[in-house]
Amino acid sequence: MPQVDITNIIKVENALSAYQPALIVNAAAYTNVDKAESETDLAFAVNRDGPGNLAGACAKANLPFIHISTDYVFDGQKKSPYIETDQVSPLSVYGKSKEEGEKMVRLQTKEHIILRTSWLYGVHGNNFVKTMLRLGREKKAIKVVSDQYGSPTSAADLAATVFTIAGLIISAPKIIWGTYHYCGQGITTWHEFAKKIFEIACRYDAMKVEKIQPIKTIDYKTSAKRPLFSALDCSLIEKSFGIKTKPWQESLELVIDRIFAQN
Ligand SMILES: NC(=O)c1ccc[n+]([C@@H]2O[C@H](COP(=O)([O-])OP(=O)(O)OC[C@H]3O[C@@H](n4cnc5c(N)ncnc54)[C@H](OP(=O)(O)O)[C@@H]3O)[C@@H](O)[C@H]2O)c1
Repeated sequence: MPQVDITNIIKVENALSAYQPALIVNAAAYTNVDKAESETDLAFAVNRDGPGNLAGACAKANLPFIHISTDYVFDGQKKSPYIETDQVSPLSVYGKSKEEGEKMVRLQTKEHIILRTSWLYGVHGNNFVKTMLRLGREKKAIKVVSDQYGSPTSAADLAATVFTIAGLIISAPKIIWGTYHYCGQGITTWHEFAKKIFEIACRYDAMKVEKIQPIKTIDYKTSAKRPLFSALDCSLIEKSFGIKTKPWQESLELVIDRIFAQN
């Protein structure tokens, strides 16, 4: 599949001329949260300058722009799900670079939708679900953080949401541009998420894992700090576009079903 380096403005503009799209969706990002602490320049180039290039090119070509952002723009101090207008205050280089990306998008083009999501997983690529399934086959005991709260989101559900919004942009003359939250319904911890993954996976395959030990963030050393609470309130996207969230457990069952169907 042809790829465009979004940090290169010339390549971005050439791709727009070549493909003549009706709109642009940006899911590209530098996503290694821990490595971003040391690869700061690269994280900012991809997560701030990249969306800035795409949004600027969209403005020039009069194209709408949909950009994916993250719950890690928040610091996790709130005790209820974050709404779109809550103060951002990222704890990590990754979060800061994504916040700067959002700012660039708002600066470059009015016709944008910034879609913040959280704890993304799916059939393809590396993600928490696939890591757990691999570890569950290899190890008898696994330690998983149990004091970070958030909402797992299926990439397929997010993609469907992007398609719905794209369809509305193309067909509806009046779109309320701006920032929206979309994630799976319900709040959990990485530990509870892992337990659910193994509960479902056991129906398909014998798992070696017997013990899923809860551990505290403070005892699990990582380069980057993560918010302890980053659930997103998704009422605005429902009110504005009629998009409803799905219970995270239901979507997880579908994804694990598909992962095992492929093996
Ligand atoms: N994962 C999560 O839990 C999570 C949570 C909230 C929000 N998000 C956001 O959701 C979006 C998708 O995340 P993901 O986890 O699916 O990420 P991912 O699997 O790491 O995919 C990111 C993609 O961006 C591409 N990319 C990196 N640098 C690029 C560049 N300079 N030009 C063009 N493409 C480039 C990567 O290509 P290569 O593979 O070739 O490097 C990769 O295909 C991102 O905006 C992320 O910030 C993710």
